[in-house]
Amino acid sequence: MEEQLKQLQDEAVMKAAAAQDLKELNDVRVAYLGKKGPVTEVLKGMGRLSAEERPKMGALVNVVREAITKAIETKQVSLESEAIQKQLAEESIDVTLPGRPVKLGGPHPLTRVTEEIEDLFIGMGYTVAEGPEVEQDYYNFEALNLPKGHPARDMQDTFYLTPELLMRTHTSPVQVRTMLKHEGKGPVKIICPGKVYRRDSDDATHSHQFNQIEGLVVGENIRMSDLKGTLDAFAKKMFGPDREIRLRPSFFPFTEPSVEVDVSCMCGGKGCSICKGTGWIEVLGAGMVHPNVLEMAGFDSTVYSGFAFGMGQERIAMLKYGVDDIRHFYTNDLRFLQQFSVHE
Ligand code: DAH
Repeated sequence: MEEQLKQLQDEAVMKAAAAQDLKELNDVRVAYLGKKGPVTEVLKGMGRLSAEERPKMGALVNVVREAITKAIETKQVSLESEAIQKQLAEESIDVTLPGRPVKLGGPHPLTRVTEEIEDLFIGMGYTVAEGPEVEQDYYNFEALNLPKGHPARDMQDTFYLTPELLMRTHTSPVQVRTMLKHEGKGPVKIICPGKVYRRDSDDATHSHQFNQIEGLVVGENIRMSDLKGTLDAFAKKMFGPDREIRLRPSFFPFTEPSVEVDVSCMCGGKGCSICKGTGWIEVLGAGMVHPNVLEMAGFDSTVYSGFAFGMGQERIAMLKYGVDDIRHFYTNDLRFLQQFSVHE
């Protein structure tokens, strides 16, 4: 019996050492130490032994069992560490590989133009004001000297939500809202960027929704020359130091006198397709704030005067970047947008 046990031990220790993985090792454990295994069988047969032999045999079985258990444990530790090593090797990261490039977007061209204009005017002491896109007829038209039935309303046909509520057609109502907040006291110096809406059919130069920046300065002794100097600084910043501006008489109900402002073309006046051979490009509308508008907004027009201007970012961006169709700004074609990305 002793011999048999020794043999069992040798066999089990060998098999444990030869196990290829944890499953095989567990099979060895079950085969030799399990309930139906040979070691248990020997223990069961101990009843048949004499009283002297029994403790001797018992001790031997324990030694054998411990030896097998130890062999299995040792192998288990080495298999587990092998498994970890293997996993580490498989999951190792080659830090010398080149990284995956992160795709960076860029600001939309209209955002760029808006921010550039904001920067310029903030640098000249203006603050940025905002107003609602759903506007009251009163602020959008009436308080800007465009009473109901005024023919100039036709040029700015829009989307009405109710007879008194509409999608604003320009950023000019923010002039009125800002002046009312100042309660008749100057100076007022704001620009207001924002979306505006018109009932227009979309084509290369028209969009039913676009962006404007309004400017308003109200104070004592504000003159036309202040307007001209301001717009000259604007033109040079946006289009280049060689550009000139030209004021042409025009009409807006909320300014008197009113002007259209042209910027000299980049062709230097020779005439090209952009300026249609004239050497000048129309960029914005402006004028001296009409006394009626000042009065309706609570300012004494005998003390205060002001100038205002309004421009479309789409038009500015089209001229600045040579874009020939306003729809490019809204169709989000990446081939278009990527040209304005931060990597230049
Ligand atoms: N609101 C005008 C428009 O959308 C643009 C404009 C013209 C604004 C003259 C002004 C201004 O403030 O003085 O057509």
